Amino acid sequence: MKKITFIGTGYVGLVSGAGISDFGHKVICADISKEKICTLNNGEIPIYEPGLNDLVKKNVDAGRLSFSSNIENSIKDSDIIFIAVGTPESNDGSADISAVKSVAILIAENLNDYKVICTKSTVPVGTGELVKNIISENINNNVSFDYVSNPEFLREGSAVNDFLWPDRVVIGADNKRSFNIMKEVYDPLYINNKPILNTSIVTAEMIKYAANAFLALKISYINEVANLCEALGADVHQVAKAMGKDGRISPKFLHPGPGFGGSCFPKDTQAFATLSRENELTMNTIEAAIKANQYQKDRMVKKMKHLVGGHFKDKKISILGLSFKPNTDDVRDSASIDMINAIKKGGGSVRAYDPIANEMMNDIIDDIKFFKSWEDACLDADGVAIMTEWNEFRAINLEQLKKIMNEPVLLDTRNIINIKKLNEHNFKFDNVGRGDHNAH
Ligand code: UDX
Repeated sequence: MKKITFIGTGYVGLVSGAGISDFGHKVICADISKEKICTLNNGEIPIYEPGLNDLVKKNVDAGRLSFSSNIENSIKDSDIIFIAVGTPESNDGSADISAVKSVAILIAENLNDYKVICTKSTVPVGTGELVKNIISENINNNVSFDYVSNPEFLREGSAVNDFLWPDRVVIGADNKRSFNIMKEVYDPLYINNKPILNTSIVTAEMIKYAANAFLALKISYINEVANLCEALGADVHQVAKAMGKDGRISPKFLHPGPGFGGSCFPKDTQAFATLSRENELTMNTIEAAIKANQYQKDRMVKKMKHLVGGHFKDKKISILGLSFKPNTDDVRDSASIDMINAIKKGGGSVRAYDPIANEMMNDIIDDIKFFKSWEDACLDADGVAIMTEWNEFRAINLEQLKKIMNEPVLLDTRNIINIKKLNEHNFKFDNVGRGDHNAH
């Protein structure tokens, strides 16, 4: 059993900390925000992640998981320190690692014995060397430490499941000692023969970006295939299905849509492309994926505008789905933001509904109306855009929807509404790559 501190209680730190305490280790999730720690100590979870409440409660009750805003003492009391602070995108497209740097200094100043310091946050390739130097330069006494990279592969909305049942654990380490300590942390997974891959630190950092940027590239690729399907009357779902039968391609992440969002793909693709340029290289594929993604978001706006007569002026448009994907309240870089801003800019008004993300959107966008149901949001609408594939939207009763709208006009950016039924109810509709729409 190891004593472990996670610094940073966002969805990575909290999920990973609770997950590792579930493996039987003693974990402190520490954060600079006293308010966040107070919320956690009151048994409330400040982020929406299915299953996280139960995982936290079970391990807090078992005495394996605790929360503290006293980061210094938490460091002193632990064998392993995970850095799990945010690394947001900075203006020039690179990742902002200022929080990682300041935490590294704090760790150095509180090293009272040999410890393993592990970065879980997604950091630019090469950050490991920088953090090691910062710690070495700020160590107070002659204690030793080892640094490892242990990137996370968690998806928002399924982070608990992704942590407890990972496809692989990547540990970038300089030596056997630190690798073996980290292997012990993940031992229970090892028993379920989950591969624990031992690499160098820089290779571990590269694996994270290479994997994430590839997933984003795959999405931009199927989006572009979908657009061509529209031009030629092919059905992208059947194309994707047939492609996915090839084991080399796999059916996953071949769902066309309005463009990817979230706190990772936009940031990680930008950081990867910037890192290439900083090394006198151009990552053409990822730069193209970034460009294709913005094109896709803009294309959805054009589709909606065409559906409501070529302009948004005085049009009432309902947006169903605000989060960047289902099962999360996170709206960062969500395609719904581009749509809402374009409608407002064009002189239209927006009525929005999301099962859980209304509040998060309300924090960043003003003068739109939020509703508690799709029925209320679609009342008197001149058009509806489905932007997130929440399950409740799959079951929308088109007869009822038609009755409450001004005009039966629908843009399905997630291809979840049955085309045959849209035709039966005489909707004017459009979608992404289905080769069958009547929005001529
Ligand atoms: C992603 C990676 O999947 C995860 O491994 C990494 O650790 C963090 O970044 P996340 O951003 O939480 O996870 O969500 P993800 O499920 O990957 O979706 C990202 C975006 O891509 C969403 O906007 C989603 O709608 C979109 N997407 C995903 C598609 O448009 N099509 C797909 O087939 C899959």
